[in-house]
Amino acid sequence: MITGNTRLYAILADPVAQVRTPQVINAWFREHQVDAVLVPMHVPAGDLDAVLDALRRMRNLGGFIVTVPHKTAIAERCDELGPAGQAIGSVNTVRRTADGRLVGEMFDGAGFVSGLQTQGHDLAHKRVLLLGAGGAGSAIAFALAQAGAASVTVANRTPARAHALVERVRKALPQATIEAGAPEPEGHDIIVNATSLGMRAEDALPLDVERLAPDMLVAEIIMKPEQTRLLDEAQRRGCPIHHGRHMLDRQVALMTQFLLQGQPEAVN
Ligand SMILES: NC(=O)c1ccc[n+]([C@@H]2O[C@H](COP(=O)([O-])OP(=O)(O)OC[C@H]3O[C@@H](n4cnc5c(N)ncnc54)[C@H](OP(=O)(O)O)[C@@H]3O)[C@@H](O)[C@H]2O)c1
Repeated sequence: MITGNTRLYAILADPVAQVRTPQVINAWFREHQVDAVLVPMHVPAGDLDAVLDALRRMRNLGGFIVTVPHKTAIAERCDELGPAGQAIGSVNTVRRTADGRLVGEMFDGAGFVSGLQTQGHDLAHKRVLLLGAGGAGSAIAFALAQAGAASVTVANRTPARAHALVERVRKALPQATIEAGAPEPEGHDIIVNATSLGMRAEDALPLDVERLAPDMLVAEIIMKPEQTRLLDEAQRRGCPIHHGRHMLDRQVALMTQFLLQGQPEAVN
């Protein structure tokens, strides 16, 4: 039941009809008996400043989730950024403080790493091949380096993007062993598909699956379909696999924890 006390949350996107966050987060609020509701807000890029100005003034707004195309623009407009948001330059979650300040953070990478860990996959001493240097790939590269992976190789269709990402990670985390490279699985323990290849049945595979060995963990971040062709091919070759939904599950936990921080309904 929504009452006058219910705290408001939103997801800002353009388009917005396809997002699944309202279902997932509202189910979480219900399950945890948090008096809050999250609603979709269709906000084109050109209207972002006007909408943010209004949201800052809305006293019962606890915060919002951010997705395409606003992740970078909102990071630039936040009053404060968490460490991942600062390093990556984009955010997917923003908390509104009591005095109307916006505090942003990016949980894509932390969600992926936490998803691996909850499934029993430790990153220490692991050499990771990361396919994709887009939005999610960038966040995952930082999180892998931060979590202490032995090494990270970033392979991207557009090599310049992989090189730029590697430079940014090295600057933020000088102790990290990270380089740009080819999508060649040999010499790696974990392969991560962070490209958008695999969402459509006709998509090419993101690497040559004949080169996979059964001791390599193959991880997806694509959620739909749950079992991508890459995961099928990996399984057929005896590789352990890791589904994209684990990243989302952990992100929801991290996002809600962040959004509810300092709020009367906070759940620990
Ligand atoms: N599980 C989760 O919680 C979660 C969270 C976020 C995203 N995702 C999923 O992650 C995927 C990527 O999202 P994103 O936001 O990172 O997208 P993005 O910023 O658009 O990046 C797309 C990436 O895929 C590569 N790519 C696209 N088409 C390709 C092709 N034909 N051949 C080779 N590489 C190709 C791009 O390479 P170029 O740089 O060369 O273009 C880039 O590295 C999407 O499927 C999204 O649904 C999942």
